[in-house]
Amino acid sequence: MQNSPLWPRLIGHRGAAKWAPENTLASFFCAADMGAQWVELDVRLCKGGIPVVFHDATLERTTNGLGRVAEHRLDELKSLDAGSWFSRRFKDEPIPTLEEALDVIAKLGMGVNIELKPDPENARETARRALEAARLVWPESAPPPLISSFDAEALEEASSLGLGWPLGYLAGRFESRHLEKALALKTGSFHLAAHGLRRDQIDALHQAGLRVFTYTVNDLSQARQLLAMGVDAIFTDDPKILAPG
Ligand code: G3P
Ligand code: MG
Repeated sequence: MQNSPLWPRLIGHRGAAKWAPENTLASFFCAADMGAQWVELDVRLCKGGIPVVFHDATLERTTNGLGRVAEHRLDELKSLDAGSWFSRRFKDEPIPTLEEALDVIAKLGMGVNIELKPDPENARETARRALEAARLVWPESAPPPLISSFDAEALEEASSLGLGWPLGYLAGRFESRHLEKALALKTGSFHLAAHGLRRDQIDALHQAGLRVFTYTVNDLSQARQLLAMGVDAIFTDDPKILAPG
């Protein structure tokens, strides 16, 4: 399978999550500084349906807030500190909206993988609102965002919106039912956890016409091994990992 120049071999995971608080603008700036050509981010809906860039369903791990993201309005989320948990240097770093993040990422000249993180009850709404927001700010001249999710319903909705943006099927590990679903959804890539990933699985995905992306790889020798096995791209918290020298 050819590696299109549009597709990177390295994608900064949640920006540059090793060096800055994940999924913040600081993390995207940091990834760009480290030479990342693409970044991945996670998106979910807050109360009121605005897409925000945030990994967990709840606030506790990465902010000074409490409870579910889905139960907080944007103004409440904006008052939170999403940086201090990582380092005092990032005190008061805010949670970005998807629009804010994409605007910055596009201006930094990077590509983006938008991972849809729906709550169980709002898969379609998450896809719809995230893609509507993305369509508003993402430049037509830039490579289209890659839309991925563990949630097949969210991917179905993304596909039905007819934007023609590439889809990525996310799974913890390779299973033939996932491959069937990815083929039915016509995704261009299949994103798998690196742990336990085997060459025969990579070959099977390539034979099915899918690119293979794998997460989360923070160790250089593991990255080299996976790329040598035929993986098309790795997600890493450390975008410097494959830097020359
Ligand atoms: O998109 C790759 C990876 O981010 C999937 O897992 O939990 O880090 O969002 P997670
Ligand atoms: Mg993710």
